[in-house]
Amino acid sequence: MYDHVTIYYFSGTGNALTAGRWINENAEKKGIKADLISIDRFKKINVPVAEGKRLLGFCYPTHGFGLPWIMLKFIFRFPARERCDVFLLNTRAGSKIFKWFAPGVSGIAQILPALILLVKGFKIRSLFPLDMPSNWISVHPGFNQATVAAIVARCRIMTDDFCEKVLGGRTHFRPNVFVMMPIDIALAPIAFMYFMYGRFFFAKLYIASTDCDTCRLCEEKCPTASIKIVNKRPYWKFSCESCMRCINICPRQAIQASHSLAVIIAVAGSFLPLALMLKIFNSYIPPSLQKPADFIVNWGISLTLFFVVSGAVFWLIRLRWINKFFSATSLTKYWRRYLAPGIKPRDY
Ligand SMILES: Cc1cc2nc3c(=O)[nH]c(=O)nc-3n(C[C@H](O)[C@H](O)[C@H](O)COP(=O)(O)O)c2cc1C
Ligand code: SF4
Ligand code: SF4
Repeated sequence: MYDHVTIYYFSGTGNALTAGRWINENAEKKGIKADLISIDRFKKINVPVAEGKRLLGFCYPTHGFGLPWIMLKFIFRFPARERCDVFLLNTRAGSKIFKWFAPGVSGIAQILPALILLVKGFKIRSLFPLDMPSNWISVHPGFNQATVAAIVARCRIMTDDFCEKVLGGRTHFRPNVFVMMPIDIALAPIAFMYFMYGRFFFAKLYIASTDCDTCRLCEEKCPTASIKIVNKRPYWKFSCESCMRCINICPRQAIQASHSLAVIIAVAGSFLPLALMLKIFNSYIPPSLQKPADFIVNWGISLTLFFVVSGAVFWLIRLRWINKFFSATSLTKYWRRYLAPGIKPRDY
């Protein structure tokens, strides 16, 4: 049915990359030419020349009930002239509770890019959420090997089945895509708040402990060039997608998502006389514009707070004992890390 499959992927810890590789393997077995292209640090969009009919795929993780900004930007800018068949595969936070495989939640991770692609004239052949092991280790410990292996094996079977159908030219939507759609749409406001606040908050929680030997691997492998080495230690910029790659590939496990820093930001935020600030600000704004203006001011204050508090901590942890305190109070120091099975830093 197809002569060429081109898959663009973004992957923090290798789940979306693994899914992309499985699809490529299946395509090659069927004699379909396949390209798997990383969008890390993309500047311009390279679309390989295809002979015959092309299927296009986008593989990416779900972040905050939406999709990572880098992938959204990529899809937004993708040349409309292609107008071919498309599938969207979003990996999600799968888990296993005793014998039950619990799914993640897509939110608008599929609906939003699907709408953009539809408007551009592409034909959606599949929306395929894949519940790979959750990689969000700043909020929970990584799963043990047996759990990861069981979840991945199940996903492999589902992906092979997806390939059988979609590479064979059929449209394939898992029934739960439609069952979950009302809930996914209802989660749009949370996805919006994650996009506006959450991703910046999580980006600013990273710290490097005294175990860091400035090998620069995290800086080199960051997909968004969000790490800068300052005074021999990594500094995280706002452009970080919180993809969990750096924290999981650091050879010395020196990167932590600091939970005490999260508490300090929350406490510092609660001390701000925000209501008074908004009241003064609103006296200069026409009443009809007060709500959107308040939102923007609130947003600006929050980002400034994240920047200032994390910046202060970045400088303070040059002192060894302060660094030890922040490392010791980061749960990630005690939690298992996660990279998809078989994925190594050199794969990025
Ligand atoms: C910052 C962040 C936010 C996440 N938000 C969600 C979410 O809203 N829903 C979900 O099912 N999984 C969520 N996850 C889990 C990932 O989508 C999931 O583990 C994915 O398979 C990771 O793929 P990757 O290894 O290719 O990056 C989140 C993970 C991170 C790091
Ligand atoms: S990868 Fe780890 S050890 Fe290397 S520079 Fe980054 S934080 Fe330091
Ligand atoms: S800084 Fe780390 S978490 Fe953020 S985008 Fe880069 S690799 Fe991912």
